[in-house]
Amino acid sequence: MNRMTDKMLRWYARHARALPWRAPPGQRPDPYHVWLSEIMLQQTTVATVRKRFDDFVRRWPTLRALAEAPREEVLAAWAGLGYYARARNLHKCAREVTRTLNGQFPQTPRELKKLPGIGDYTAGAIAAIAFNHPAVAMDTNAERVIARLFAVTEPLPECKETLRRHAEELLPKDTPGDFAQALMDLGAIICTPRDPACALCPLMEDCKASKQGLAEDLPRKRRKPPKPRRTGRAFWIERADGRVLLRRRPEKGMLGAMVEIPSTDWDGAPPPFSGETPFRLEFERLRPHVRHTFTHFHLKLALHRLPEPLPIDRARLLPLPPGWFWHPLDKLDTVGLPTVMKKAANLLRGPR
Ligand code: ADE
Repeated sequence: MNRMTDKMLRWYARHARALPWRAPPGQRPDPYHVWLSEIMLQQTTVATVRKRFDDFVRRWPTLRALAEAPREEVLAAWAGLGYYARARNLHKCAREVTRTLNGQFPQTPRELKKLPGIGDYTAGAIAAIAFNHPAVAMDTNAERVIARLFAVTEPLPECKETLRRHAEELLPKDTPGDFAQALMDLGAIICTPRDPACALCPLMEDCKASKQGLAEDLPRKRRKPPKPRRTGRAFWIERADGRVLLRRRPEKGMLGAMVEIPSTDWDGAPPPFSGETPFRLEFERLRPHVRHTFTHFHLKLALHRLPEPLPIDRARLLPLPPGWFWHPLDKLDTVGLPTVMKKAANLLRGPR
């Protein structure tokens, strides 16, 4: 075995983080847990997932249970984890594996990648961790560790293939799952983006970047253009019996199929407010805006609400479009508002 791999695995055997989806030493983890955690961990931190993973598994202890759950419940349980296409794909994938594969995940990256929501990284991670299939799993942690070990100075994303090849050189054929997770943990604990703890690193002597005093500068990244700024308006329509008007977003696009406070489109730079409001109701404007940053843009949401809750007989006359519904205010927590809408609701339901 490669000397660096050996050091990495020894370090992992002593310092692996105890995480709820991992198996105790010597035991194989449940593929359902591995898959679920990897989907949750795409773009979300271990600290956040740690708290949410257990709730999810308690509620849906098996892949079949998740497949049989209504999609709205799965989306609501995902609220706050972001990137909701992941939740839609999670549910779709659970159904597909249950129905067409008899509940068994495929064991190779090639087959795994045919399933919804599973890309290169996730396929490698599941194959290696759940099935000990010899595959590498290149996430940002793994890329950083490898870029430093081999002093790869070409920027990301151009150097991705080089990094993958270097990782494959180190891949142990019999313990690829431990290797994948050793890279993740080294990247998270020692080989951190800023201020890496090189003095504690089991690979310090082998690390080319550390020797050249380059560790903190790698991996280099191509400069990203600044995110555009978009704006929109949200309308809070409360009814006298303590319900609020919500709607489910369209299936496709941002926050697809998630529940929201009725809002305008989020345009680039909208013209001044033309007074166009749902049902031509008269709203008052709240002073604070909600600000939220998505992957590709910053959003500034202006908040509007009725001066008084709507009497029930007037509310009955509103011609509700499909997907709009009155929801009890005291059950707002369980409807699964995405974070941007939770921020808005917290301000809008506040004192007048
Ligand atoms: N990040 C992504 N997958 C992970 C895993 N299995 N363990 C720790 N961190 C991770």
